[in-house]
Amino acid sequence: MSASAYALRMCGIVGYVGERSALDVVVEGLKRLEYRGYDSAGVAIRDDAGELTVIRKAGKLANLQAALAEASEADLTGTLGIGHTRWATHGAPTDRNAHPHTDCQGAVAVVHNGTLENFEVLRDGLEHRGHTLLSETDTEAVAHLIEEQYDGDLAAAVRTVCAGLEGSYVLVVTHRDHPDLVIGARRNLPLVVGLGEGENFLASDVTAFIAHTRTARAIDQDQFVELRREGVRVTDAQGTEVDGEVFHVDWDTAAAEKAGYEYFMLKEIDEQPEALRETALGRVDVHGRLMLDELAMSDEDVQGLSQVIVVGCGSAYHSGLVAKYAIERWARLPVQVEMASEFRYRDPVLDRHTLVVAISQSGETADTLEAVRHARRQRASVLAITNTVGSSIARESDATFYTRGGPEVAVASTKAVMTQLVAVYLVGLYLAQVRGYRDGDEIRSHFADLAHTPDLVAAVLGRMDPVRKLAREIASCERVLFLGRHVGYPMAMEGALKLKELAYVSAEGFPAGEIKHGPIALIEKGTPVVVIAPRHALTPKLVTNVQEVRARGARTIVIATDGDDSMVPHADELIRIPDTKSLLSPLLTLVPMQILAAEFAMARGLDVDQPRNLAKSVTVE
Ligand code: AGP
Repeated sequence: MSASAYALRMCGIVGYVGERSALDVVVEGLKRLEYRGYDSAGVAIRDDAGELTVIRKAGKLANLQAALAEASEADLTGTLGIGHTRWATHGAPTDRNAHPHTDCQGAVAVVHNGTLENFEVLRDGLEHRGHTLLSETDTEAVAHLIEEQYDGDLAAAVRTVCAGLEGSYVLVVTHRDHPDLVIGARRNLPLVVGLGEGENFLASDVTAFIAHTRTARAIDQDQFVELRREGVRVTDAQGTEVDGEVFHVDWDTAAAEKAGYEYFMLKEIDEQPEALRETALGRVDVHGRLMLDELAMSDEDVQGLSQVIVVGCGSAYHSGLVAKYAIERWARLPVQVEMASEFRYRDPVLDRHTLVVAISQSGETADTLEAVRHARRQRASVLAITNTVGSSIARESDATFYTRGGPEVAVASTKAVMTQLVAVYLVGLYLAQVRGYRDGDEIRSHFADLAHTPDLVAAVLGRMDPVRKLAREIASCERVLFLGRHVGYPMAMEGALKLKELAYVSAEGFPAGEIKHGPIALIEKGTPVVVIAPRHALTPKLVTNVQEVRARGARTIVIATDGDDSMVPHADELIRIPDTKSLLSPLLTLVPMQILAAEFAMARGLDVDQPRNLAKSVTVE
């Protein structure tokens, strides 16, 4: 099983049936999945009397354990159970939204990882048929759908329900009628079985059960698992048993948390295609119109906007710079991009016709949070773009676009930046759609290009060995420059930041046209200069810039589009990326620079996940 097969991680899932205390095994498994990041947790235990006890709490596992300690011992003595740590995507991190979720009778318990694209339709149908759903989650609808389909055959009911689900999911289901059965189902996200003696396990990844067994089996796309004490039956969507690879897990726990990667950052770089898919999922309605309900602004308000101001720090600021190109190009709205730490001190001119877009992976960056507060005091509308549900910036903004990239553990931001880029593209297209500056066909065409980029990013990831080799070759350099034009300029800034924060190198990103206004004095013989040169009308000007730096001894490392040979005579190193619309090229040009920075730091023996002096979220000004 390749490590990358364990790519995108979001919620943590554990299922158990055996002879031991299911509660102990499940809670221990959830503890081992804590590294993934989560904001609530819960368990469902079937006791020997056939009752299903569900206990779930917002916050960390300690909150759940405190609640378990208060519960009656009798309810929690069963040997069958499921558990969940939730990374919220639909609905804030509250007790009510924590998993497991149950049906009307409390007979079915479900935990879920992923995003169901059609859950509003499913939810409306259930409520129309008399079901009462208590949470804001997409998962709860699944429990009620199973209730409707269940006639004694739990596996068949789950298969039928999954046939009607759209989107990505791992589901683990139990029913109080069944003392010896846990059902698993997966589409697009990982699910793995742990095979024991008289006991068996289900989990999002092997970390949850390798303390008990290292014999595992991965579940493939659209397959279903029937987990029993004495064995495991895996079927296809029609219920026909299928064979599968059983493998031995030789990772230790630390390696398992990184799914076999040496660093979380490397895993998160590989998660980018799936993260991009999650961000774009469910953004187009049945009529092909872009949906951005989160914006919570009427069409009239959007049409009345006079300016957009994007605020953020670090990589989030760089995503904001790309937002400027996209929103101005598509929606014809003036956009200013501000470093959040400077924004409010310049006493900006804001009013109710201003949309402030606050970008923050953590949703807790103090400078950005204060910028949000300032904007709201000035009566501007604030849209947050964040990866963290229920974060301070989300809570204090008028509206929030959740990027759904899954937890980002490494300090150096990678998949969060990529999903921020998708978010700002979608915001730009949505503003254009509402303001009538782009017709439906053009919006759909741009969205189709955007929806294709995960495959292109995956293709770029498959070409990175030469970049790794190059990084090791230049790892002794103390200065590296990055040049780009148009949306290549924010990427030059981002590429420089990655190298700066990971390898502690003096790395600077410039608009290529600026190089001769001073920075060219930095060039010495052999100075690596990374040139971001995807196919673009400005490429001829970029060629001139590359000639200028090369004439002064620079080692030119050019990122260029397949088939575009305009840079070939001027490149000491050529990194090829697939063709895409130039405005979307940051999604592709960013990847080689992430890999270059990570490999450069590893060549120097540095800690890629925890660079010196840095924190994942800067919650002080
Ligand atoms: C990016 O690699 C850095 N870790 C840093 O610049 C980060 O982007 C910045 O601190 C903003 O964080 P936020 O997105 O959580 O607000």
